[in-house]
Amino acid sequence: MSLRFVTLPGTGLTASALGFGCASLGSRIGRADGLRALAEAHDGGVTWFDVAPPYGAGEAEAILGEFLAGRRASVRVCTKVGLAGPERSGLMRLVYRLGRPLAARFAGLRRRFRAAAATRYRPIALDAAGIAASLDRSLARLRTDHVDVFALHAPSPADTVRDDVVRALEDILTSGKARQVCVAGDLYACRAAAAAGLPYRVLQLADDPETEPLATLRVAAGRPVATVTHSVFGFDGALSRLVARLEADPAAVRRLQAAGYDGPAGQAAARLLIDRAFASNPDGVVLASMFAAPHRRLNLARAALPPNPEAVRLVRDLLGPAGAS
Ligand SMILES: NC(=O)c1ccc[n+]([C@@H]2O[C@H](COP(=O)([O-])OP(=O)(O)OC[C@H]3O[C@@H](n4cnc5c(N)ncnc54)[C@H](OP(=O)(O)O)[C@@H]3O)[C@@H](O)[C@H]2O)c1
Repeated sequence: MSLRFVTLPGTGLTASALGFGCASLGSRIGRADGLRALAEAHDGGVTWFDVAPPYGAGEAEAILGEFLAGRRASVRVCTKVGLAGPERSGLMRLVYRLGRPLAARFAGLRRRFRAAAATRYRPIALDAAGIAASLDRSLARLRTDHVDVFALHAPSPADTVRDDVVRALEDILTSGKARQVCVAGDLYACRAAAAAGLPYRVLQLADDPETEPLATLRVAAGRPVATVTHSVFGFDGALSRLVARLEADPAAVRRLQAAGYDGPAGQAAARLLIDRAFASNPDGVVLASMFAAPHRRLNLARAALPPNPEAVRLVRDLLGPAGAS
């Protein structure tokens, strides 16, 4: 079955409803495994790839650039400006390089690695020259002359509406180096960006199953905006919380089985969460990190199905405030 495709409202961009998130490309995931995963996803129909300068310890854009060679015309690429990699001393760089492969293999260690200050992104001050220069560096690493979407990465709401920032982005649109500009941030920044008269036609945010931000965002926008959502499995430990609920609650298992989500708890929960993500963003793109082959297979299979609104209700009931109590 082929993947569902969407035309993102207000943009003219068409893409697979499932996008590949490259935050771990070059850090947790080495270059060769990463390139293989990207190629397999593309062969399976994925045409949206999301990246940023600090992703993959600064390596993700260059690796994605290798992947893009010969494929550029068939894919959409989003990169960003606004976050830099962590500042590390020489010793910390060594610890990181040696510890990363181990952390990739052990979930507990991975969580500690992520929480360590030495692995956290740093915000960079946005100004017109810096925004333009960052995009030029990204284009060089990606080996392309334009990106489909250029996003402010985790900006403050005030930054998204600042005159000099907006003008810099408009200049980039005029130059053709980006087809669309975007805010990839929290709900407050996305709401500010959705205001009429601003150039942002794409908004990227985590779709928290408990607060369901997309519904309020669309109302606030009052104009067609394209939405790209992420952190389907990782958001606040959604997958592990759902699995824990199923393991503790036979009634919840029966309810999922009746809705067609049967099998081992981990798989039923993963199918339900990705179905929920597609159903809550039916004309947008849902990003997933899917370097592991079983994850890729599952996500691709679900991306071929029509959105299932029942999944939104089920997750709301199982993970929402009532379900959590
Ligand atoms: N502010 C922003 O703009 C922002 C913030 C966060 C994320 N993002 C983008 O969104 C992308 C995805 O976000 P994310 O990495 O936070 O969350 P995610 O896609 O929910 O991934 C979290 C974990 O879930 C695993 N996974 C994927 N499919 C699965 C499945 N079917 N069953 C079980 N586990 C599965 C992934 O493993 P494997 O990868 O090992 O397969 C990964 O370790 C990022 O790579 C990035 O491109 C953007």
